[in-house]
Amino acid sequence: MLKYAMAVSGLIMLTYLLVHAYGNLKFFQGQEKFDSYLHETLPHMFYPYLPEDGLLWIMRVALTVALVVHAYAAATLWRRNRVAGGYVGATRYHSKQNRTGNQRSYASFTMRWGGVILLLFIIGHVAQMMPNWIHPGGASDSKYDRVVNGFDLWWVVLLYTIGLVAVGFHLAHGFWSALTTLGQNRSKYRTTSRITAISIGLATLLVATFLSVPFAIFFFGAGS
Ligand code: HEM
Repeated sequence: MLKYAMAVSGLIMLTYLLVHAYGNLKFFQGQEKFDSYLHETLPHMFYPYLPEDGLLWIMRVALTVALVVHAYAAATLWRRNRVAGGYVGATRYHSKQNRTGNQRSYASFTMRWGGVILLLFIIGHVAQMMPNWIHPGGASDSKYDRVVNGFDLWWVVLLYTIGLVAVGFHLAHGFWSALTTLGQNRSKYRTTSRITAISIGLATLLVATFLSVPFAIFFFGAGS
């Protein structure tokens, strides 16, 4: 049950990320299009059937619930696994087989730390993008300007790159894991399985799409 909860909540957040990454590409259409998408189109979706910002708030509540369920399930499963594996109070990896055995990868080792980095990244990012709370490079009412001001600074680009690499590793393993939980893994070996290739491909595509905006601004002067 908890594994299903993790898989489904993870897929909900992944769906959001795919829409978000696609939306970010509007940046390349210029300030007017980008700002009207964020300041006009998104807040007025299904208006007047939904109030202003209605769909955004439904999405925010859904994402918050998904995040809490995901983190709770992860922590509970991890604790259970530790107890069941007899790791508590002992060295975690008892044998060579365990260390190198099937279904272990760099990503699966780093899910927990990657998850923590991600959480910090999301908190910082939302504080920067949403209400003008923190505004590296300068505050503005235009979200386009805020994005450009921030990504003109090397340390903002660096922090985002670290956050996005964490997104990539987390997704590459997490998507594989979710598909396996939901019964889509029909392969005997992890490394040659089709869903491993699909998961790594999807994670790479998503990270590259997200990175395109900060890199275009910092390295190629886009937006200024
Ligand atoms: C360089 C990459 C990114 C850029 C340029 C970017 C840009 C933005 C912008 C402009 C907003 C404000 C949207 C609005 O006003 O409706 C926003 C919101 C948000 N972003 Fe990102 N984003 C990036 C990566 C990410 C990543 C990787 C995540 C998650 C892991 C993320 C999660 C969010 C969330 C949760 C919100 C709040 C949405 C809301 O409540 O309306 N973003 N982002």
